[in-house]
Amino acid sequence: MNAPNTLAPGPGQDLAIDDETFRTIARLVHDVSGIVLTEAKKGLVVSRLARRLRQLGLPDYSAYCRFVEGRDGLEERQHLISALTTNVTRFFREEHHFVALQEEILPPLIERARNGGRLRIWSAGCSTGEEPYSLAIRVLESCPDAARHDIRILATDLDPAVIARARAGRYPDIHRNGVPKPLEQRYFHRADAETIFEVSADLRRLITFAELNLMGDWPMSRGFDIIFCRNVVIYFDAETQERLWQRFAALLPPGGHLFIGHSERVGREAQGLLVPAGITQYRRTDAPSELPVNPQSQKGVST
Ligand SMILES: C[S@@+](CC[C@H](N)C(=O)[O-])C[C@H]1O[C@@H](n2cnc3c(N)ncnc32)[C@H](O)[C@@H]1O
Repeated sequence: MNAPNTLAPGPGQDLAIDDETFRTIARLVHDVSGIVLTEAKKGLVVSRLARRLRQLGLPDYSAYCRFVEGRDGLEERQHLISALTTNVTRFFREEHHFVALQEEILPPLIERARNGGRLRIWSAGCSTGEEPYSLAIRVLESCPDAARHDIRILATDLDPAVIARARAGRYPDIHRNGVPKPLEQRYFHRADAETIFEVSADLRRLITFAELNLMGDWPMSRGFDIIFCRNVVIYFDAETQERLWQRFAALLPPGGHLFIGHSERVGREAQGLLVPAGITQYRRTDAPSELPVNPQSQKGVST
């Protein structure tokens, strides 16, 4: 973009956002990502977008708003969403989920895969990759020869920047970030900088990373045995959350597993399809799902 930058605010220079501009940005973000920005998030919007305004050389938020809404603003919408999403995550976050996987859920599914069946896991809203790599570690701990079986993990996020970081699989401070020492030795090696740890080839082999906006169509025609969608829908409104629970349920076989974030709950409507099976852990009932996976287009695309 070739905007003049003489008027751009300097670092630390506070700019206010007027109500109309805030509402326009909130609507744009909601339309694209499902994320709800209440008035209470004004400060967050101001602080997260200030740097972007400086980079673009724009004088204030209403100029930014005009740009992002305009003909040339389509690409900028991606930056807008990236700036406003929360990507906080860590390895083995909410450890009880990983204990349940290892002790109860994975053994029969791995047994089935050893006998020629398939095992599919989806980390939806995977951020920078700590969640799917933790899942891959649990799979390899239960099945060291997983690569020889039909076992795959799909890891998706709407933000291409976090998907790129997840794919790179390079992390500083993995111990403070949840990886116990014995697992470090088996699944990470030190990269060129001494303090950066890189995930092993065995972990990478199990995972496919892809950009996917949960608000849009889901390009998978077959289901998953286990879905992790944790600390993602908390940013959406109740109606969107409900629709997503039902779409996830439609992708699970009877008995399939859904794991959600610590402050999230499956609402009453989806509880006909998903029954509690542990702390923020649900299982698919065998009731037929009324909602298609892709409610708008009514079609799935093979992957
Ligand atoms: C707080 S992180 C959660 C990461 C991980 N699941 C965990 O629990 O540690 C939330 C992630 O959801 C992603 N996200 C937000 N809206 C999304 C959407 N509409 N579709 C897909 N991902 C979305 C964000 O980009 C962010 O990486």
